Amino acid sequence: MRLRGWMLALAGFGALTAVATAQDLKSPSSDQYVPRLGDIMGAAQTRHQKLWLAGKAQNWELAAYELRQLKASLVEAAVFYSGIPVGNVTTLEPSLQSMSDALTAKDGRKFAKAFGDLTEGCNTCHRSMKRNFVVMKVPSDQAPFANQQFAPPSKP
Ligand code: HEC
Repeated sequence: MRLRGWMLALAGFGALTAVATAQDLKSPSSDQYVPRLGDIMGAAQTRHQKLWLAGKAQNWELAAYELRQLKASLVEAAVFYSGIPVGNVTTLEPSLQSMSDALTAKDGRKFAKAFGDLTEGCNTCHRSMKRNFVVMKVPSDQAPFANQQFAPPSKP
């Protein structure tokens, strides 16, 4: 159910890319503010790491929220940047679905597996877009986000 918005966005995007063929990473002409792709990816990186930290802390509610945010970043990248082949985005779909299922099941093992697959999906696209120097990995124990609590909030 949560994936519905994502699927709809992808379906719409598929129709768009059928006509947009230019291998162009520049933003489309638009009067609206369009974030730079690197900025969208920076947000994806933040969410990717927070998803991990929340999942490890078994805060499934926060993890589900971070997953939604992460999906939104990926959809944004696909919608704004027509040079990104749609296949690069849709290949992430199974691992996003597995992640969603793992969070619903509150299953730490499935979560870790889905996270690895998802991370590999990030790198598959980076490699295919000549950004193979951007290598994502499952975060090490080190937590750079010292400004946020990742354990579930204590009950009032
Ligand atoms: C559909 C293709 C695609 C997918 C999927 C993708 N990326 Fe990217 N990513 C790119 C491209 C293209 C760039 C280079 C952007 C640029 O050069 O401005 C990039 C750049 C980045 C950067 C470097 C940004 C910076 O300024 O340092 C990070 C970090 C990043 N991606 C994280 C991720 C994460 C995390 C995921 C998976 C959750 C992911 N990306 C999935 C295409 C993708």
